[in-house]
Amino acid sequence: MGPDRTIALWKRLEGVLASGRWNPTQGVLFHDHGTYPLLAQRGQGGRMWDTSGGEFVDWMMGWGPVVLGYRHPAVETAIRDQLAEGPLLSLTHPLEIEVAERIRSMVPCAEGVAFGKNGSDALALGVRIARAHTGRELVLHYGYHGFHDWYMAGIAQCQGMPESLRSTIQPFTYNDAGDLERLLLENKGRVAAVVMEAARDQEPTPGYLQRVRDLTRDHGCILIFDEILTGFRVARGGAQECYGVVPDMAAVGKALSNGMPLSALCGRAEFLYTIARVGYGMTYRGETLSLAAAKATLDIIANEPVTDRLATIGEALRTAFQSSAVDHGIDARLTGPSARLAIWIDRHGRLSPLAQLSLLIQEFLKHGVLSNGSFLPCYAHDDRDLEQTRIAFDRGFETLARARQANTLVGFLTTPGIAIKYGDDEAMH
Ligand SMILES: Cc1ncc(COP(=O)(O)O)c(C=O)c1O
Repeated sequence: MGPDRTIALWKRLEGVLASGRWNPTQGVLFHDHGTYPLLAQRGQGGRMWDTSGGEFVDWMMGWGPVVLGYRHPAVETAIRDQLAEGPLLSLTHPLEIEVAERIRSMVPCAEGVAFGKNGSDALALGVRIARAHTGRELVLHYGYHGFHDWYMAGIAQCQGMPESLRSTIQPFTYNDAGDLERLLLENKGRVAAVVMEAARDQEPTPGYLQRVRDLTRDHGCILIFDEILTGFRVARGGAQECYGVVPDMAAVGKALSNGMPLSALCGRAEFLYTIARVGYGMTYRGETLSLAAAKATLDIIANEPVTDRLATIGEALRTAFQSSAVDHGIDARLTGPSARLAIWIDRHGRLSPLAQLSLLIQEFLKHGVLSNGSFLPCYAHDDRDLEQTRIAFDRGFETLARARQANTLVGFLTTPGIAIKYGDDEAMH
C-alpha cells in the first residue's frame, strides 16, 4: 500500500477499465493524480482507507447505501450465513418474501414489492407500469433517476438515444406547484407519470407535496417517488413518511441493504401486480446475499434509533458548517434533509459556486474528510468523525476566505481537475 501502488494501479486502470473513471455527470469528481483519493482499499464504520494508505472520514458512504456504516457485524453475519446456502438459486427464495414483508411494514405506499438490483431498474419498471396502466407516454420529473433511456432521453448531452424518446420526458420546477399544473394542463391526457425525488438539496415547502398528490390524481396520472436516496434514511418509511404524502409507487434501494446490490419498486397492489404484463425480470433479482443483508439492515433500522441518529449527526454537521462559514464571513449552508445534506454557496466575484466547492472539497481532503459536496451520515459516524469534520470545515473556509479576497483560485486550487475543468472557469485564469 502506498502512493506508488496507487499510481501503478491507475496506469493499469487507464489501459483497461472503461468504467473506472467517475461518470462525468457526477461533476465534482473529475480528478487526476492529486489530492483526491483515487482507489478505495477498505472501510470500517464511518471511515474509508484508500490504496495509498490515506484515512478519511467518509461522508459519501458508497454514494449513500452504507447507512449503518462499513462492516456492520449483524449484516456481515447475515451475508456469511446465507453464503453457505448458495448465493443464487433456481426458484424464488423465502428471503424475498421476508424482505418484501419488512418493506411493506415500513414504507406507507408498499402494498406490493418487486425487487431489482439498481435504483435504475426499479424506476424503469415504475415508469413502464405507469405507461401500461394509463396508455399514455409522457413523464414529468424532478431529480436524478439513474441511467435508463426513459430518463436519460431528457438529457440533451446524452448520446445514443433514439430521437423519438426525447419528447417523452420533461422536467418540472420543484416547490412550484404552478409549474407542474401548467405542464399537466398543456399536456392534458398525455402524462403517464410524475416521477420525483420528494426532497433533494431542498425540502418541500408546506403543502407542496400534497398539491402534487392532488394534481396527479386530478389528471389521472401516477405519482412515483424516487426514494432511492431518501428511503430508510430520512425516516424509516422514507420521504413519504417524513412529509406525510403517500405516492402510488416508490422506488427504494441504497440504504435498503447497507451496500449490497438491491433495489425495489413498491406501491399499490393494483399497479405492482401488473408486472407480468410489462416484461420485467433479471437473472440476479433473487440473489440471496443482498436479500440477507437487507433483512438484517431493515431489522436494525426498524428496531434501533438509526434514522434519529442520522438526523442528529446531520444537524450537528449543518450547525458546524454554518458557524465556520459565518466565522469567515462567507454565506454558505448545508441544505436539504438532515440525513441528506448538500453544500450551497453563492457566487463571489469571479469565483463560481462550483469553483468554491472545488476548493472546499480539496481543503476538506487535506484534513482527512471525504465529500463530493454531499454529506450522507451513517449510523456509525461518531464524535471523533464529527470533530475532525468540524476542523476541516474551519480550515476549508479559512482558505476559501483568502481565495475570495484574492478573487482567484490560482495558487489555491492545487489539484488539477479536482472539481472543475480549468478551461471552463474564469477563476482559474
Ligand atoms: C435519487 C436517485 N435515483 C436513482 C438513482 C439510480 O440508482 P442506481 O445508481 O442504483 O441505478 C440514484 C443513484 O444515485 C439516485 O440518487
